[in-house]
Amino acid sequence: MRVLGIESSCDETAAAVVTEDGTVLADVVASQIAVHAPYGGVVPELASRAHVQNIVPVLEAALEQSGGLGAIDAVAVTRGPGLVGALLVGLSTAKAIAFARDLPLVGVDHLVGHLFAVYLGREGEPKRTPELPYIALLVSGGHTAIYEVTAPGEASILGQTRDDAAGEAFDKVAKLLGLGYPGGPVVDRLAAGGDPAAVDLPAPMASRRTLDFSFSGLKTAVARHVKQHGVPEDPADLCAAFQRRVVRVLVEKSVHACKTRKIPRLVLGGGVAANRGLRARAQKRCDDLGIELYVPPVASCTDNAAMIAYAGALRLAGGERDDLGLAAYSRSPDLKRGKMAKAR
Ligand code: KG4
Ligand code: ZN
Repeated sequence: MRVLGIESSCDETAAAVVTEDGTVLADVVASQIAVHAPYGGVVPELASRAHVQNIVPVLEAALEQSGGLGAIDAVAVTRGPGLVGALLVGLSTAKAIAFARDLPLVGVDHLVGHLFAVYLGREGEPKRTPELPYIALLVSGGHTAIYEVTAPGEASILGQTRDDAAGEAFDKVAKLLGLGYPGGPVVDRLAAGGDPAAVDLPAPMASRRTLDFSFSGLKTAVARHVKQHGVPEDPADLCAAFQRRVVRVLVEKSVHACKTRKIPRLVLGGGVAANRGLRARAQKRCDDLGIELYVPPVASCTDNAAMIAYAGALRLAGGERDDLGLAAYSRSPDLKRGKMAKAR
């Protein structure tokens, strides 16, 4: 079975074709970074307009690479969480294709897509997949949370950020330091040449009593440092100190979740999983504690439609499908209750 996936929840317009075992036949992503960079963050109205412009060329490219629309058996689309105007572009397109070709349509929760992206198989990349259950740390520009992933398409949330997402904190700190947008990759690069002990920053909500996170205090501490001392000519030490604080709390809470849930498998996902400091620290702590660490290729961690197609295939395999009345949501309804039961 071949599933066409469509993703347009934030600032990436993406289409992909994936088989039911996760083999990626095509995976096309049009990034809107250049559109939003002058504003230092995603501007919802501009995102919607860029999706409208990009969706057809992106779809055509994905279909051309994978044998055309005639080879598609089902359509999966991100229904949320995300920017509603952005989501509607993908949803309307997916509905139009499903209606015109009489194909099954499934809606996918974007976070569920991230949680199962580790099962995607990409040409030239070794595929290592964890047994279920596993603990997943999902860290992106919009989300930071720890999940227990229990069955295909099923997970429950163990902790999440109470304010900024980790990627958002990277982006805001980079903005304070005049480093451009998105900030994560540049802070990561600068941090590699800095001394984290040279600047004293507070540990952000490091208590193990909760698996929740908070990054706004750390961001404020960086702002205070910049106000007192000015923007450093060489921001490497400040980047290193900030990154170490973020990375340590992410890794410590994730391995703590593995220990308390007695699940010795940890999977990373989301754009911040590209961070070299995070990957290195997670590997070291997991080696120390006998936890198997799974870090998918960067293309599977950042926003993409292949993960949406695969999560859609899981729903279809479970006998589920939606009809053309499928609606968007800006927040996962089950997440609000502190539980995400099924990929709906
Ligand atoms: O998953 P993603 O592509 O989009 C969503 O937010 O859903 O993640 C983008 C986020 C941005 O905040 C970006 O700054 C961050 O991931 N990011 C990084 C790195 N690469 C991307 N953060 C830290 N280190 C990186 N190397
Ligand atoms: Zn995402």
